[in-house]
Formats: sequence, C-alpha cells, structure tokens
Amino acid sequence: MVTLKDRSADCGAQGEPELILLLAMSRNGCIGVNNSLPWHLRDDLLNFKRLSSEHAIIMGRKTFDSIGRALPNRHNIVVSRQSGLDLEGCEVVDCVDRALESACAWSLEHEKRAYFVIGGADIYRQTIDRAEQMYLTVVDADVQGDAWFAFDDTAWQELARREFHQNDDNDWNFSILHLKRKTQ
Ligand SMILES: NC(=O)c1ccc[n+]([C@@H]2O[C@H](COP(=O)([O-])OP(=O)(O)OC[C@H]3O[C@@H](n4cnc5c(N)ncnc54)[C@H](OP(=O)(O)O)[C@@H]3O)[C@@H](O)[C@H]2O)c1
Repeated sequence: MVTLKDRSADCGAQGEPELILLLAMSRNGCIGVNNSLPWHLRDDLLNFKRLSSEHAIIMGRKTFDSIGRALPNRHNIVVSRQSGLDLEGCEVVDCVDRALESACAWSLEHEKRAYFVIGGADIYRQTIDRAEQMYLTVVDADVQGDAWFAFDDTAWQELARREFHQNDDNDWNFSILHLKRKTQ
C-alpha cells in the first residue's frame, strides 16, 4: 500500500525549496464558509500540523483572522494590502511575490526544502501556478459555502493517497492526496 511519506517536505530534491499547497476541499470544491472551515476533521488537522511544523507558511489575512493567532513552531507570513498591519508572531507582507520570496529565503536559511501556502481561496488562486506539490484533502461530501478551489487535475500526478473514515473525531470520510506537478 502506498502511504504518505513522513515529513516528506524535508525529503525533496536538492536546491531551491519547493512551494507546496496544503488544503482541504469538498467533492464540489468548497473550502470555507463564513471565514471558517465547514467541517471538523481531527486527523486532517494533525496531518496539517505534522507537515507544516518547523516550516514557513503563507496565508491570506482572512485565513489569519479565521485562525486568530500565529501558528506555533512555524514562520507565519500573512499577506495583506492594509498598510501598517501588525500581527503578533507574524511577518506581514503587502503582496504575494514578497510572501513567496520571504518564505523561500527563510527556508534556505533554515535548511528547509519546502514552504507551504495554507490558504485561503484568494491566495491559493494566486500561487497554484508556482506550486510543485499539493497535499489535497478531499472531503467525501458536497458542501455549500463561500470559498472555493478548482484546479486542472490533468496537470498533477498522484504520488500517494491515504483514506480516513468518519468517526467521532472526523465529520466525514476523507482522503489525503499527495500530488506533484507533472513535468512538461
Ligand atoms: N479548506 C482549507 O484548506 C482552507 C484553508 C485556509 C482557509 N480556508 C478558508 O478560506 C476562506 C478564506 O479565503 P479567502 O479567499 O476569503 O481569503 P484569504 O485568501 O485567506 O485572504 C484574502 C486576503 O488576503 C489579502 N490578499 C489577497 N491577495 C493579495 C495580494 N495580491 N496582495 C496583498 N494582499 C492580498 C487581502 O487582505 P486584506 O483584506 O487585509 O488586504 C485579502 O482580503 C475561509 O473560509 C477559510 O476558512 C480553507
């Protein structure tokens, strides 16, 4: 059986750190509602924590608001057009390019081979073309919301998949897919 590699973000090719998108979406592409997640999936959150800990993470200001604090043991980078925004424990940058540059520089300095975009919809849209990998959680439900994700799945190759079942800790069945961009 193929399983997700432990801490695979530290196991990539030598050279420039890679950008990885980390996200969860429903079957119909929903990723959020009322600036929060439409589900509780404890095992997905644990996977998120395991992958992103000790790495640089990039998020939009609305996703930062929904989390409500800097995530511990990570270099938090928040993108916002608001001038003078000061968020405790975060580096605030005024454009996506600066966020990517800063995360890349931090990763090189700390000998990390990957950095992560953790949402939300607006930031995924602006960064997916530059991502090399994705950890995509597909929630086995059709969900109504106000934040959406779509991508061209023909451009991505599945490296691994892990299935989880609905239980007291997880609202729905879900799969975590590890995807890599196909080489041209
Ligand atoms: N399912 C998942 O995996 C997942 C993960 C994360 C988030 N989410 C969900 O996604 C939703 C939030 O997504 P969203 O699209 O509404 O917001 P978002 O992407 O989190 O943040 C959008 C904000 O980022 C800033 N921004 C965006 N592009 C920028 C640019 N080019 N330059 C400078 N600043 C820029 C702006 O902040 P200012 O307004 O401050 O200028 C903008 O309002 C929530 O429902 C959240 O729960 C889901």
